[in-house]
Amino acid sequence: MKKIVVTGGLGFIGSHTVVELQNSGFKVVIIDNLSNTTMSVLDGIVSITGKTPDFYNIDLKDKQDVEAFFKTHSDIAGVIHFAASKAVGESVNEPLMYYENNINTLVYMLQNTSQLKQAPFIFSSSCTVYGEAQELPISETSPIQPALSPYGNTKQIGEEIISDLCKADASFNAIALRYFNPIGAHESAKIGELPLGVPQNLVPFITQTGAGIREQLSVFGDTYNTEDGTCIRDYIHVVDLAKAHVIALKRLMDGENSRNYEVFNLGTGQGSSVLEVIKSFERVSNQPLNYKVVDKREGDVVAAYADTTKAKEVLKWTAKSTLDDAMLSAWKWQQRLKKD
Ligand code: WQD
Repeated sequence: MKKIVVTGGLGFIGSHTVVELQNSGFKVVIIDNLSNTTMSVLDGIVSITGKTPDFYNIDLKDKQDVEAFFKTHSDIAGVIHFAASKAVGESVNEPLMYYENNINTLVYMLQNTSQLKQAPFIFSSSCTVYGEAQELPISETSPIQPALSPYGNTKQIGEEIISDLCKADASFNAIALRYFNPIGAHESAKIGELPLGVPQNLVPFITQTGAGIREQLSVFGDTYNTEDGTCIRDYIHVVDLAKAHVIALKRLMDGENSRNYEVFNLGTGQGSSVLEVIKSFERVSNQPLNYKVVDKREGDVVAAYADTTKAKEVLKWTAKSTLDDAMLSAWKWQQRLKKD
């Protein structure tokens, strides 16, 4: 059974990807420092698949610990690297924490992975690298704009580091996956998004408001140049996203990649406004959502949704779930959380 290392494997996208890797017959080794998650996620994974991943509580900022891990794991067949800090607002206030946690750790992971024989590397990137795209939908050849936050800059720098390594080492194979907006939860409601503290992202704030944990959702502006005045995003079900990671990994393991560094957008291709997401929640939960429109949020782009052609044609992957499917799964997960 081929062994895959998943850093940040107890995180939101990481945990759903671990489930899909196990479902595809891989042995999974999770590295997570539990800075933004809890061990309960491991229980959730096991309760879904019946398979227990190996787990190492290692902080990837510790170069020696990373090297020690790889010294005892020379049989790794691939790496999926999720581990990173990801709060845009926080990154503006704590840039050095973001550069240390998102860049140093990537370099240590690459230094060790590239020493393994033929272990492919999948990098968790983000549509945030495009900034405010001049044309929609956004394709992989859309210009990379100056980052709007240190978080976004760490994703741009991360891609450049990997690209440079692949130029220097033709035997190293990597894919960067640029996610649009991941939302939702596994259909079992045993794993899902677990924002610690006040949610920064729209959907967990909506479900927490629906569950009475938050008083009211603030809609950050309704005077944008869009149909209903609110920002547009491409909300993709996290399980669709997780499945794409397994496909990308297999592409590299099977040597099907045309170049040793490739980039793919992962989205649905469908843009939805904030108000449309709220209406979706009200449909699937059959209850009104308490919200009010407030000032715009600094740094928000007006609209972003994916051109899904490349992933469809090359990875033979498309997102299957609708916005309502994703919102219902998020709501079921929130209700399960409330019970625990
Ligand atoms: C979506 C829309 C907000 C909260 C960020 C990162 C991206 C990725 C996903 C990590 C925007 C509006 C939000 C709220 C609101 N993160 N909103 N009230 O900003 O598109 O993307 O998270 O990979 O890299 O940039 O997602 O969910 O924060 O916002 O009105 O309480 O919802 O203004 O229009 P975003 P988001």
